[in-house]
Amino acid sequence: MDLWTLEQPGYDPQRGVTDGNRFLIANGYMGVRGTLLEAERQACPAVNLAGVYDRNGDKWREPVNAPRPRLFSLRFGGQEYVGATPREHVLRLSYRHGVFSRETDFGPFLLKEERIASLSEPHLLAERLSFTFREAGQAQVTLGLSTDIWDINGPHLFDFQQEAADTLLCRAVTGEKAIPVATAMALTWDGRGKKASALTAEGPAFTLCFDARPGETVTASLFMGVYTGLDDPAPAQQAQALCARAQSRGLDACFQDNGHAWEKVWARCQAELTGSDQEALSLHASQFYLNSIAPRHAENLSIPARGLSGQTYKGAIFWDSEIFLFPQFVYTQPQVARSLLRYRIETLPGALQKAAEYGFRGAFYPWESQEGGQEGCTDFNVVDVFTHRPVRTYFRDKQIHISADIAYALWQYYDITGDRSLLEEGGAEVILQCARFYLSRMSGHLDREELDLTDVIGPDEYHERVTNNAFTNRMARRCLESALALEAVFSDRPGFMAALKERLGYEADWARLPEAIRRLRGPWIRDGVLEQFDGYFDLEDCPLETVRSRLKDPREYWGGDHGVAGPTQIIKQADVIALMALLPEDFSDETVAKNFAYYEPRTEHGSSLSACMYALTACRIGALDKAWELFKKTASIDLVGGGKQWAGEIYIGGTHPAANGGAWMIAVLGFCGARMQRGELTLSPRLPSQVQAIRFALTTAEGPRQITVTREGWRSEPID
Ligand code: BGC
Repeated sequence: MDLWTLEQPGYDPQRGVTDGNRFLIANGYMGVRGTLLEAERQACPAVNLAGVYDRNGDKWREPVNAPRPRLFSLRFGGQEYVGATPREHVLRLSYRHGVFSRETDFGPFLLKEERIASLSEPHLLAERLSFTFREAGQAQVTLGLSTDIWDINGPHLFDFQQEAADTLLCRAVTGEKAIPVATAMALTWDGRGKKASALTAEGPAFTLCFDARPGETVTASLFMGVYTGLDDPAPAQQAQALCARAQSRGLDACFQDNGHAWEKVWARCQAELTGSDQEALSLHASQFYLNSIAPRHAENLSIPARGLSGQTYKGAIFWDSEIFLFPQFVYTQPQVARSLLRYRIETLPGALQKAAEYGFRGAFYPWESQEGGQEGCTDFNVVDVFTHRPVRTYFRDKQIHISADIAYALWQYYDITGDRSLLEEGGAEVILQCARFYLSRMSGHLDREELDLTDVIGPDEYHERVTNNAFTNRMARRCLESALALEAVFSDRPGFMAALKERLGYEADWARLPEAIRRLRGPWIRDGVLEQFDGYFDLEDCPLETVRSRLKDPREYWGGDHGVAGPTQIIKQADVIALMALLPEDFSDETVAKNFAYYEPRTEHGSSLSACMYALTACRIGALDKAWELFKKTASIDLVGGGKQWAGEIYIGGTHPAANGGAWMIAVLGFCGARMQRGELTLSPRLPSQVQAIRFALTTAEGPRQITVTREGWRSEPID
């Protein structure tokens, strides 16, 4: 079994949308959906751009898709083959080098396509297209830049200006902010015949006309450059110059550069599992999807919840980044982890503004963050399947744990690497402003000593507007504790904290921190089980299947005012258990075991973020068969194209970076028990019986290392 390749034989045009996700290639700058070069709009093809957003009218703001390369027409022997059903067809994705490929046998000829989103040159998309003929005949191939762009809430590009000369060019601007988007394409081919270019109704295109001979292979190399006005003041010139450079270097060299770049990335982050080939492949897949969307070209970008697979979830950054994606990066490629957190540091002004809008002080980060920290989350995020009316959800207003999650990751960065520079460069300020937010958000009763966080939503989104969510309160308390602990981090530079507090006018807040830490309400505990929020234990306690059987439509939303889960103890995703996974030292093994036993059967795992948190805690309590089952579910999610596709009537498909990061966490932090503190690694392995060994790379204080964990023990070796 090839543990590095996803292969799918057979032609099924209905699979276009899921193939688009499973066969996605990306390089942090752009994501290219794994659809065929000739795909029409219905198959949801896209070149999705990271960090470029647009809003059309009052529809949802979402990331922009650029014009894409497309095979417009393929005529041979007087017949059109675009849209024809092939005799045989196979799709492949090489995870090792990020190469999408397909082979399609149309009978008279065989079509091969190989595609990369270059990891060494983020603005470059390159393709090799080859035709091997079995019969003689006249061939005419038309391919170019398609302006027929698939969008969920578009269109986003306007004022198209197109040129068709030696290079094709397509210029446009976004509707909301008039950001220029330029794509250029150059083509080299080895055929004998005519190459011409022209403007067509769908975009500028090259046409190749030649007489094919039996046994002959004709190959075309395509180089496409993409730049926006956010990258450079002259994006069209840059895109054209890149095409010219890539063309003169040649396609093989472009593929080689990309391959080397991938080898380097794998050398830093690869986790390799022996014992089950299927799961070894799943882990490669997860790591590929996650690492292909890392913003290596930037210093202050984060990663959207559906990666670069399209416009689902508005291309926004959620807590997924800090809690699920960040760990793999901080252990393996700290510079990417820095970028995720720099994005939060630089978007602090947006968080201050959001808190102020709600009448609070400090930093309340957006639930769905877009460029510049703009809140992308709307008031209505779900559509009722019966009335087709939008349903008011309170994610934006009430999911206040987001600020604590960010403060947690900033602290983790310091704690894991021992590098305090990020705290110095704005991280400490973010922690203080998040703490200030919770200080202003807490409220008390005259007759009680305790302070509450009322009217919140915890990670379990099915129960909205609850009080004292255990996760939220404990993470908020951790944020306050981290604020105070900053003093010790900078004890050798007392002036640093004094100046920061002075600049932020923080003296009064600082004085309140110890008391707030003491008074912030802890969860109600019954027989060792933490109550998820006040009153949770009073809700109907019935099996998950009973709740599922109450659905009148499988696409119904389970949460909100009328959702089936609301009146019951059935939860969407790990909540109390997520807390135990994040703050393991706060809970005894016995408490974790009791809470796992209580909450797991009551969890729908309706979010791809859920299973990995349960798996991490399962490892801790030695429930290794359960951990293995949850690992398989987490790691295979994008390989099999699973996950929920709908929330009410809203399409939420795409890749699942949080689960991809989760798979790494289970393998390395869970099964191997890896912990790094100030760059020092410790391991306490607990391999499930199905696993013989796990080998993984990470970066410690001594530099990059390779760790091998077997049933007999473990060893650590330097990587050159
Ligand atoms: C989950 C959130 C998550 C979001 C994006 C939702 O379904 O409930 O916790 O942040 O998806 O992945």
